[in-house]
Amino acid sequence: MSTQTDTRKTITIRRLAEMKQAKEKIACLTAYDASFALMLEKAGVDVVLVGDSLGMVIQGEETTLPVTIEDMLYHTQCVAKGLENALLITDMPFLSFTSEQEAVLNAGLFMKQGGAHMVKLEGGVDQADTVSALSRNGIPVCAHLGLQPQYVHKIGGYRVQGREGAAAEQMLSDALTLQQAGADMMLLECVPELLAREITAALDIPVIGIGASAGCDGQILVLYDILDISLGMRPKFSKNFISGCDGIQQAIQRYVAAVKSGEFPGDEHVFR
Ligand code: KIV
Repeated sequence: MSTQTDTRKTITIRRLAEMKQAKEKIACLTAYDASFALMLEKAGVDVVLVGDSLGMVIQGEETTLPVTIEDMLYHTQCVAKGLENALLITDMPFLSFTSEQEAVLNAGLFMKQGGAHMVKLEGGVDQADTVSALSRNGIPVCAHLGLQPQYVHKIGGYRVQGREGAAAEQMLSDALTLQQAGADMMLLECVPELLAREITAALDIPVIGIGASAGCDGQILVLYDILDISLGMRPKFSKNFISGCDGIQQAIQRYVAAVKSGEFPGDEHVFR
């Protein structure tokens, strides 16, 4: 099977910014181990996230809250071994960035010992000082707005965010503040299409969507969802890419092709 790794450039934050400018879609997926990471690399996935979703899909927990720094470091080290050109992001787990110092030390661990190139953290304007501290210390940051699974008990479940006018305005303002604070990328989860398009147009940094429409600069899904490996129901915004495929490698390639061509996400995966 031919792969794209021979020809493609190493993915850096500069390259991602160029892709946004050139309207070239960014294909992202989660991974938790070296074998899957190698398959993502071969399929030409641009950005690989070691998501704290591993709490659910690997550990069988009901939420992401029990995931620890040690869990994230271990899985980051595993994934890093399978990657060559893709940009590797590690999620900051629940309560691992309650102060600027704690955030820098934990994120530093993921970069120094794990091989991560960027960290992702959930939270709006309240996290602006933390994003700024990370950025000042040379740690690239992906901010995560919209549905923030670490706040599941605070918001009372998993639901679309930013549907009401005030909430939408707040999200746009948070996005601009986080970019100003030094965020290098933005992830929007479960955000209505119009708002996602507005935020994507307003920001200079790349915006990656999950349940946030094809209007974003790129897409991310949980790997196990696209492979139809699921402990529960697959979310509306996800898609089974393995059905009718020869195997896992082909399914991942189909996902990358569908993101790059703008075919995924379709209307049925979008919130209005
Ligand atoms: O943990 C995770 O997998 C995520 C998703 C939104 C991609 O953050």
